[in-house]
Amino acid sequence: MSETGAAFLPYAARVGGLNGSEIDSSTSLLQRQNHDIVRLAMGSPAAEAIPSEVLGTIAAEIVGAGAPTFDYGPTEGEAGLLTQLERFTGTARERLLVTAGGMQGLDLVCKLFVDRGDVVAVEAPTYTNGSATISSYEGRLLEVPVDEDGMVVEALAELGAALPRPPKMIYAIPTFQNPSGKTLSLRRREELLALAESWGAMVLEDDPYGRLAFDGAPPPSLVSLSDEAPWVIGVQTFSKIVAPGLRVGWVEAAPAVIARMIDAKQCMDTCTNVPAQLLMERFLALGEMDAHLVRLRSIYRERKDAMMATLDAAFGADGATWTDPGGGFFTWVTFASPVDTRDLFEAALAAGVAYIPGDAFAAGPGFEDSLRLCFASNTSARAADGVARLRAAIVAKYGSG
Ligand SMILES: Cc1ncc(COP(=O)(O)O)c(C=O)c1O
Repeated sequence: MSETGAAFLPYAARVGGLNGSEIDSSTSLLQRQNHDIVRLAMGSPAAEAIPSEVLGTIAAEIVGAGAPTFDYGPTEGEAGLLTQLERFTGTARERLLVTAGGMQGLDLVCKLFVDRGDVVAVEAPTYTNGSATISSYEGRLLEVPVDEDGMVVEALAELGAALPRPPKMIYAIPTFQNPSGKTLSLRRREELLALAESWGAMVLEDDPYGRLAFDGAPPPSLVSLSDEAPWVIGVQTFSKIVAPGLRVGWVEAAPAVIARMIDAKQCMDTCTNVPAQLLMERFLALGEMDAHLVRLRSIYRERKDAMMATLDAAFGADGATWTDPGGGFFTWVTFASPVDTRDLFEAALAAGVAYIPGDAFAAGPGFEDSLRLCFASNTSARAADGVARLRAAIVAKYGSG
């Protein structure tokens, strides 16, 4: 969380809604620590999953191409990358905009559609940075419970009906959700779209993990189920499937919405980093993305399975529960009373393990008994070490897990 700083400065009113992200702040927090910490906090890909050698070779080529690599580029994205994206996504380029990661896509959507006081429905728990982006445009968060099949759309219908006006937007991470690991069922996807249409609400689908399924394909995306309806917008990223430091993602939306997003992006950063786009273009042009994804799914599946076994051994007898995701990076662990994961955090950090406390994923209070673990970044042995440290911290503080 960042401070607004000197209170006497004439900050814009919307700065009141600017909360930053505990997830992102954990990167700096961990960099400041001098002892060994198993990092189960950030949603970073495995080092082995980043094709750094190939990217290095491509980087040398594009640097060798000289000045054009370092010039401004078109706001919608480099033409060559858009051609590759059309092939990769099966989406026409008029519906695509290249962005600085998924985060810029979320920001652009909120900039276009969220006014002060607008209600945006979100999953509870939801992705902290997504809800923080909504709040930064002074939107109000309507938390909708999540069960085994993802967001409970029946509850959303009731919560929305109780408002003076229905929500303006539904923000959903329907596939291998961050942080819960849950996936919205096909039936609920259809219900969610029907509800949004009946309300005249926008649907913002955030889907960084859909290509990282462990067992067969997940249900079709909301974007693909919506038959190019202009009120459904998809935000995607290469961060989890290639490299997050490149900061390259894309938005899929109706051409008229893309045109307004281009206007908004021109007031923001002119164009996405050109060398990073050229890297992604050439990486996709190698035609090895499918094989790369097969490899990633196998690495992450193995790590997920190992994490399930580790959690079972560490906490299985203590009344704790956790999700067994069908893909993605995260499991969501819920402890029995009296564990409070915010309270525990410093002791856990001192014991050499970092996680994200559950309340970071709530709009208000909530989920103090839960935490998010990323099983993707570390080897299974190292992650097991982290879970052992977590257990030791819990036992030291509460006497049991
Ligand atoms: C659900 C979700 N949306 C968006 C993002 C942001 O992606 P990027 O790093 O490409 O900005 C993340 C990254 O953790 C995420 O989990």
